Amino acid sequence: MKATFLLLACVVLLGLSSGGQADELKKHFYKKLCPQAEEMVQDLVWASVESNSTLPAKLLRLFFHDCFVRGCDASVLLDSTANISAEKDAIPNRSLAGFEVIDQVKAALEKACPGRVSCADIVALAARDSVSFQFQKPLWEVKTGRRDGNVSLASEALADIPSPGANFTRLVQQFASKNLDVEDLVVLSGAHTIGVGHCGIIRNRLYNFTGKGDTDPSLNATHAAFLKTQCSPTDRTTTVEMDPGSSLSFDDHYYVILKQKEGLFQSDAALLTDGKSSKIVDKLLDDGDFFDAFGKSITKMGNIGVLTGTDGQIRSNCRAVNR
Ligand code: HEM
Ligand SMILES: *[C@@H]1O[C@H](CO)[C@@H](O)[C@H](O)[C@H]1NC(C)=O
Ligand SMILES: *[C@@H]1O[C@H](CO)[C@@H](O)[C@H](O)[C@H]1NC(C)=O
Ligand SMILES: *[C@@H]1O[C@H](CO)[C@@H](O)[C@H](O)[C@H]1NC(C)=O
Ligand SMILES: *[C@@H]1O[C@H](CO)[C@@H](O)[C@H](O)[C@H]1NC(C)=O
Ligand SMILES: *[C@@H]1O[C@H](CO)[C@@H](O)[C@H](O)[C@H]1NC(C)=O
Ligand SMILES: *[C@@H]1O[C@H](CO)[C@@H](O)[C@H](O)[C@H]1NC(C)=O
Ligand SMILES: *[C@@H]1O[C@H](CO)[C@@H](O)[C@H](O)[C@H]1NC(C)=O
Repeated sequence: MKATFLLLACVVLLGLSSGGQADELKKHFYKKLCPQAEEMVQDLVWASVESNSTLPAKLLRLFFHDCFVRGCDASVLLDSTANISAEKDAIPNRSLAGFEVIDQVKAALEKACPGRVSCADIVALAARDSVSFQFQKPLWEVKTGRRDGNVSLASEALADIPSPGANFTRLVQQFASKNLDVEDLVVLSGAHTIGVGHCGIIRNRLYNFTGKGDTDPSLNATHAAFLKTQCSPTDRTTTVEMDPGSSLSFDDHYYVILKQKEGLFQSDAALLTDGKSSKIVDKLLDDGDFFDAFGKSITKMGNIGVLTGTDGQIRSNCRAVNR
């Protein structure tokens, strides 16, 4: 009876998994192909972060932008060509950075194991390792075996990357289209516990919310007054911390400031406009299990539309398709 049940469970599980490419990702995919790969990524990324503490935010955001457009296929790394404007040149690229770290890791891996380790896996590992430097141990597990895509289109980034002005309904829609649910939306937004945003993105919130010279009422008035001292009405280039005072520390403090109505973007504030979403915020704070939740959700994100097996290619230069 027990055996039959186990057998049945296995069949069901296999049946469920056969459809999703994500399950072709493996723990330590490079164990035989390039045994030192994961350690090399960690060493190089940690050295970079040690000398530049803003990098975890850059590399984490890069992973998000990669996965949301055409899946986690390193399309975000491709440079534009003479006739094609790539994702990184789309408006929502909004200051994507960290590319030179990926290039450095890739160069080292090409030397150690030519043609073996994909740019897409480097992006996934670099996001994890950069954030984890603070803890000196990996904060979540990354399965590997992703392969690199051939296509990167600015127009797709425009369509698939959520706007900082998006309302809750729109955010839920855009996450659902990537098989991510409301829990994932709330948990992954917690990434805004590190990093900065540009004044240009919030100036309407501060100075002209409805076109009448007003301030967004969903923004904490005290905080709005502070932000106005940082961002003049015409300033697009200054940056402000998304989790003030804690923007280099990966922690659950984002939810604390969110509840004080200090989330930097409308898309942050939007998480409090829905009952279910608000409850998730409270629960994350009450249970103190943001790290576990983040690990689960970013693993889902890292499975979006991955190319595996013989699909795609292993780029030799992350900025260009192999020719
Ligand atoms: C929910 C929808 C989201 C929206 C609308 C959004 C929007 C933005 C915007 C507008 C910025 C500021 C860019 C700039 O001014 O330079 C930003 C920064 C950032 N985002 Fe998001 N984001 C979202 C979700 C995510 C997710 C899921 C992650 C990662 C898992 C993420 C990670 C980051 C990080 C780390 C930064 C800081 C980058 C830096 O310091 O340079 N975001 N986001
Ligand atoms: C882009 O331009 C090159 C020549 O400059 C051409 O060979 C190639 O087919 C073009 N690609 C597309 C997608 O139009
Ligand atoms: C982002 O796009 C703009 C053009 O919209 C471009 O000037 C800029 O170099 C791009 N940023 C990156 C990192 O590629
Ligand atoms: C840190 O890295 C960011 C992103 O690559 C870069 O813009 C910045 O200039 C670097 N800062 C230092 C001090 O090297
Ligand atoms: C949310 O934004 C979408 C456009 O992105 C808009 O069509 C919709 O009316 C908005 N919903 C609410 C409740 O404001
Ligand atoms: C505020 O927005 C309105 C409507 O979009 C616009 O006509 C006006 O010029 C804006 N004012 C400023 C100071 O940007
Ligand atoms: C605004 O922020 C301050 C701390 O900066 C906090 O004490 C206050 O409760 C916040 N107001 C609201 C409405 O959340
Ligand atoms: C990418 O290009 C390579 C080489 O031209 C080709 O073998 C592969 O099928 C292409 N992959 C995808 C996903 O288009």
